[in-house]
Amino acid sequence: MEYNVPIKRVLISQEQIQKRAAELGEQISKDYAGKAPVIVGILRGSILFFADLVRNIKIDCSFDFMSLSSYNGGTSSSGKVRLNLDLREDIKGKDVIIVEDIVDTGYTLEYIRKYVNDMHPKSLVECTLLDKKARRVVEIEPTYSGFVIEDLFVVGYGLDYDQKYRNLPYIGVVVKE
Ligand code: PRP
Repeated sequence: MEYNVPIKRVLISQEQIQKRAAELGEQISKDYAGKAPVIVGILRGSILFFADLVRNIKIDCSFDFMSLSSYNGGTSSSGKVRLNLDLREDIKGKDVIIVEDIVDTGYTLEYIRKYVNDMHPKSLVECTLLDKKARRVVEIEPTYSGFVIEDLFVVGYGLDYDQKYRNLPYIGVVVKE
């Protein structure tokens, strides 16, 4: 192992992620045919999935980014969300697709929906790589979802543990010490 990572097992391989990103990209391309959506990556976690997804979206589109962080002490969210970086473009009247790495408690997605809807987009949907439904606190469902996963401690493909392991080219389950 080249990485000094406490990974117990690979949960989702790079190949599986890329296959799913291709399927989701194809679906989005069909659903948005004739439109030119703004694809909004939520930093930092979504960066790898964003790059895979957009390469499979074969219609006109533009990119924008937001950075959000949930206040949490370690691995569990508390429900408070902070906006670190706002959108650059005016999305009023635009079709907006939010790209996330994971929906966990749902607090972040709830915050994004309220925040972006206040800017009066024409439409708003979300596409997440992972959906940890078992941990949901807020009743919210992402529109497009790559994989529904169990309540496991996962890292890689953008997801971190104390800011590390985002660069792993797969989703791995962390060994709990
Ligand atoms: C993570 C992840 C989601 C959010 C999901 O972001 O990228 O945005 O938590 O959790 P929730 O559904 O419980 O709100 P984080 O705040 O860790 O920031 P990061 O993307 O910079 O890692």
